[in-house]
Amino acid sequence: MNLAALNEIAEKMVTPGKGILAADESTGTIQKRFDAIGVENNEQNRRDYRELLFRSTETMRDHISGVILFEETLYQNAADGTPLVDLITQAGSVPGIKVDKGAKPLPGFPGETITEGLDGLGDRLKKDYERGARFAKWRAVIDIADGIPTWGAVKANAHALARYAAICQANQIVPIVEPEILMDGAHDIDRCDEVTRWVLSTVFQELFEQRVALEGMVLKPNMVVCGKKCTKRASVDEVAHRTIAALKATVPSAVPGIAYLSGGQSDEEATAHLDAMNKIGGFPWKMTFSYGRALQAAPQKAWSGKSENVAAAQRAFAHRAKMNGLASVGQWEGALEKAA
Ligand code: 13P
Repeated sequence: MNLAALNEIAEKMVTPGKGILAADESTGTIQKRFDAIGVENNEQNRRDYRELLFRSTETMRDHISGVILFEETLYQNAADGTPLVDLITQAGSVPGIKVDKGAKPLPGFPGETITEGLDGLGDRLKKDYERGARFAKWRAVIDIADGIPTWGAVKANAHALARYAAICQANQIVPIVEPEILMDGAHDIDRCDEVTRWVLSTVFQELFEQRVALEGMVLKPNMVVCGKKCTKRASVDEVAHRTIAALKATVPSAVPGIAYLSGGQSDEEATAHLDAMNKIGGFPWKMTFSYGRALQAAPQKAWSGKSENVAAAQRAFAHRAKMNGLASVGQWEGALEKAA
């Protein structure tokens, strides 16, 4: 393992003013996104949609440090035969690949899941590296409800994340370590805070035990927010302060950067929260975005599967990428949304 080279990629992924585009929806997840805009979920439509994003040359160059791809996309070519991965590299962005095989029910733990995909991972990563991938992503899912999460599920997921990260680094791939605490429940922000600290401290203990070099990874956590069904809402300022405090208490400063997931927050909430944290500052890491929905909902709607809408979709993508790029350096203002 060449740690200096891994660190260089990790630093590039969290370049100030830029962030990561999570375009790694599995075939099942993109089905839900396409259903919402009335587009048939076939290979060509998936290709056309992602190609329009990667061909947004200025947006990619100015605001997108890396793109997480689903395996199909990493090996797919654009309409003119150019590998899609080359479009990303040509724009100066780093291509990455989602390598987990999804969250499956964890036997003995009703309502909890374990993320699968460790078997054969090293061999897959060798092929992915050849094709141009320089980082990977693995998402562990932790749900909050009555009696969950349990220690058994937190521990199993943290261990799998650490094993994945070690395998990535042995293959010269930067691991994005993503322990996502879902915001679907009715829990309040205190409960999210408590579970976030518990999960992150467990994950870093496991990373230590598996000898993962923290300088060569990127953390992709949730923010500390209330559940969607919680009636007591938290302000932007409270989310920002509590997220920073929870991370400071649990994430070593050797980690180069934090790239948050949006997790179902609205586009503007996700931007406002990131911006508020960077305005507060006082933490040792770069803090940026690794958004899926909060970057893509607008371009997907504008596109709606029609080639005549490609330019409008690219404008919508450009706007959200620019807003989040500003938020990554604490320079976003709500007025910029209205002006657009
Ligand atoms: P969201 O930003 O839509 O949560 O997606 C990010 C992601 O990659 C989740 O794994």
